[in-house]
Amino acid sequence: MSLADTVVLTEVGPRDGLQNEHQPVPTEVKVELVNRLAQAGFRHIEVSSFVHPRWIPQLADAEEVFAAIERRPGVCYSALVPNERGLERALRARVDGVNVFMSASETHNRKNINKSIDETFPVLQPVVSAAKAEGLFVRGYVSTAFGCPYEGRISVDQVLKVVDRLFEMGIDELSVGDTIGVAVPRQVQELVGHLAWRFGLERIALHFHDTYGMAVANVWAGYGAGVRKFDGSLGGLGGCPYAPGASGNVATDDLLYLFEQLNVETGVDREQTLGTAAWFERASGLRLQSHAMSICRKEAERDA
Ligand code: HMG
Ligand code: MG
Repeated sequence: MSLADTVVLTEVGPRDGLQNEHQPVPTEVKVELVNRLAQAGFRHIEVSSFVHPRWIPQLADAEEVFAAIERRPGVCYSALVPNERGLERALRARVDGVNVFMSASETHNRKNINKSIDETFPVLQPVVSAAKAEGLFVRGYVSTAFGCPYEGRISVDQVLKVVDRLFEMGIDELSVGDTIGVAVPRQVQELVGHLAWRFGLERIALHFHDTYGMAVANVWAGYGAGVRKFDGSLGGLGGCPYAPGASGNVATDDLLYLFEQLNVETGVDREQTLGTAAWFERASGLRLQSHAMSICRKEAERDA
C-alpha cells in the first residue's frame, strides 16, 4: 500500500469534546473512553488539558485521568498545555505528547489565554523547548485560522505569521484549527496551498468544527490538497468555551465512513469506534450528534 492510501487520525474527543460539555462526565467514564479508543486503534489521543482548572473546570481531573488510563504501546497520549505551569503538571502526569495552542486572531487569543499574540510566543517557546528536551512529541495548534467569532475572516498572512513562529520554536506537527466551524472547501484549498509551499504537508494536520455542516467537505478538500492528518472527535463532541458559536468537531466516526469508502487506511476499527460511541452515550448520558450515530440509533429502534 502506498503512503497516499493512509491517513492519521487524532482523536480529540476526550479533550476538545469534553471541555465544552455542561454536564459533568465522571473521571472513570473518561478513563474508559480513552482506553476504548486506544483499543479501537487510535494511535493519537488527546486525553485532557493542563490549562487552569478555573478556565476549563470540565477537565480539572486531568491528573486523575492520566494516572488511571492504560498505556498501550505505540499510542501517543497527549494533552493541551498553555504554559510552563501546565507543562510541569503534564510531565508529572507522564504525557507522551504536549500540545501548545494559540490563535491567529488577536481577540480570540486574548479571550482564550489572556495574552496578546506577541506576549504568547515567549510563553510557549520554553514549553516547546523543554518538552522536546524530554523527548516528547510536540504539536502546535493555530486556532481561528479561517475565522474568528470577534474579528470575522482571518487573512492567510495572519495565519502564516503565527505558524512561522510555531515552527521556529520547534514543533513537530501543526494542527490548523477552524475553531468556530466557518471554513468552506475553497478556503481550505487556499490555506493548505500556502502551507504546502512554505512548510511541506507531512507535518500539517487539519482540525475542523462542524457549525455549518462543512467539516467533512473540508476534510475532503484538505485530503485532495495533499493533507494526510486529520483531527476528529467521537460522535462530534466538542467546542471552545471561549469562542461563542463554536460547535462540535467533525465526528471521527463520520470520517471513518468516508475513508473506509475511499479505501484509505486509518488503522482504526469503525465498528469498535461505533460501539465505543454507543457505550459512551449510555455511560455519560450525553447524546452524540454524528451522522453515523444517528444511523445506529435508527437501526436499533427498527430492530427493537
Ligand atoms: P492567567 O490567569 O493569565 O494565568 O491564565 P497567569 O499566568 O496569570 O497565572 C494566574 C494563576 O493561575 C497563578 O496562580 C498560576 O500559577 C495559575 P497564583 O500564583 O495566582 O496562585 N496557573 C495555572 N494553574 C494550573 N495550571 C496552569 C496554570 N497556569 C497558570 N496551566 C491561562 C492564563 C493560559 C492559564 C488561562 O487563560 C487558561 O487556562 N486558558 C485555557 C483556555 C482553554 O483551555 N481554552 C480551550 C482550549 S483551545 C481550543 O479549544 C482550540 C483547539 O481545539 C483548536 C481549534 O479548535 O482551533 C485547540
Ligand atoms: Mg477545537
